[in-house]
Amino acid sequence: FENEVTFVKMQKAGKEREFDEKYEAALKKCQSYFGKEYPNIILSDVVEEKKISDISPIDGKEIAKFQNSSKESVEKAIDMLHDNYKKWFNLGYVERSRIMLKVADRVAEEKYLLSAILAYENGKNRYEAMADVDEGIDFLRYYALNLIENQGFIRFTGKGYENEESLSVMKPYGVFAVIAPFNFYAITVGMMAGPLTVGNAVALKPSSDIPLSSYLTVRFMHEAGVPKEVLAFISGSGGIVGKTLVENPKIGGVVFTGSRDVGMDIYHRATQKMPKPVITEMGGKDAIIVTDRCNMNKAVEGVVRAAFGFAGQKCSACSVVYVHEGIYQEFLKKLKERTEKIKPDDPRKKETFLNPVVNRDAFEKFKQMKDKFTKEGKVLTGGNALDRDGYYVEPTVVVDLESEAYIVRNELFLPVLAVRKVKDLRQAVEEINRSEYGLTGGIFTEDPEEIKYYFENADVGVVYANRERGGSTGAMVGSQPFVGWKSSGSSGKGTGSFYYLQQFLREQSQTIAH
Ligand code: NAD
Ligand code: ALA
Repeated sequence: FENEVTFVKMQKAGKEREFDEKYEAALKKCQSYFGKEYPNIILSDVVEEKKISDISPIDGKEIAKFQNSSKESVEKAIDMLHDNYKKWFNLGYVERSRIMLKVADRVAEEKYLLSAILAYENGKNRYEAMADVDEGIDFLRYYALNLIENQGFIRFTGKGYENEESLSVMKPYGVFAVIAPFNFYAITVGMMAGPLTVGNAVALKPSSDIPLSSYLTVRFMHEAGVPKEVLAFISGSGGIVGKTLVENPKIGGVVFTGSRDVGMDIYHRATQKMPKPVITEMGGKDAIIVTDRCNMNKAVEGVVRAAFGFAGQKCSACSVVYVHEGIYQEFLKKLKERTEKIKPDDPRKKETFLNPVVNRDAFEKFKQMKDKFTKEGKVLTGGNALDRDGYYVEPTVVVDLESEAYIVRNELFLPVLAVRKVKDLRQAVEEINRSEYGLTGGIFTEDPEEIKYYFENADVGVVYANRERGGSTGAMVGSQPFVGWKSSGSSGKGTGSFYYLQQFLREQSQTIAH
């Protein structure tokens, strides 16, 4: 696995300069992919009457055009995929896994190019982008190896009567609709890899904010041996492409990652005509607790990285921190000092930590929130959108907030951190458990009893203690299954987890009597 991400590995090996040179060469190379129009891939290349723009948050300019697909094109794709998935499944699990491992190698060959494209598409800095691509490669490898390890989920189940022999065979549902978010390339890859590896066909509806990296990856998958008959790329709007996929009776299952409202709509809509698996990974309001037994410097660093990494647009981003009253003032002072060292800037620059927010909507939302910051609490630092091309905003910390304040309870998906003072750990956990979400979280304390209390009582899918490098962020495939509880996710099984693949399979019980 790439797990300990490329940059960290190269840094340890004294190859930081090589990393930068390769990345900067890729920044130049990716220009040759811009200024073009890209087709859908539905067996062959398909163009539509209407187009959508892939806009870069760096300067608000278009980098490429994609198809704004019609309902008819989506339906054609579903028919084609549905007619072909059995051939893909019948290749057998060894051959499919072999192909998916080749896909992983193919994506790994292009990891610098893809990371550079992500700077333009969703504004990721080089370290975040490379970690994201690494994670996508890990999903591909993890699921392929997991299928082998489980021998294709085929089990001899014995003899009912003496003259019988029985097998349990896990089979695909048919076509999975994959509906992807903008914030992680790895999620687009992982959501395709899961259903494909076990023998389903996949219709990918990419996020309109990262269509180019998604498109190229589908091309790499085809090049590495995934038949075009079982993997289609269909760009366009959620309202047409997403909705048509979700509602079509030939769709065997849906896997979605995105916001709560869209996810819940899909969850209900997809099963109107027929029951089917609908895996919806949704939003979060991820909290970190800082107790009076913490290592203060570690806590401040962990919270800042979790809150402002990728401009607060990670589903795992910390957006509310609960701080023990005994250390509240000291924590605020250090948090302010640390946050004020962070300046939003162009993600292509080596030193940039805080990138622009993903698009104009996110930028406008930040500006609209400004009123709420001051009505509900007090801005400790930040609060301003920058007056320059692109979508740059300041890292913002808001204090003096009530427990039920909008900023404390709602996912903004912006670099905005709410701070709440609590009297003890018990109160902090109660506050967290009142949230409608339960995705990630963290605690900073040097007391093992406090860690135990938090792990045992927090209704949260992914919990960390004392993770200075990322606070509540940065799950690694295989090591930290990524799973949301409550309104953060419907499946209860993590991505990059031992249990993930089974969700894309249905059991067939086979018996022969002699
Ligand atoms: P989003 O919900 O706006 O869009 C996600 C996808 O759904 C896009 O491809 C969009 O076009 C499509 N879509 C929109 N309307 C649709 C409809 N009516 N029918 C079908 N599809 C439709 O989310 P986003 O802004 O791209 O991503 C950010 C959100 O994703 C945040 O809420 C974040 O917390 C969440 N997220 C969750 C996880 C997780 O693992 N739980 C991981 C990453 C992101
Ligand atoms: N793997 C990503 C994180 O944990 C979603 O931040």
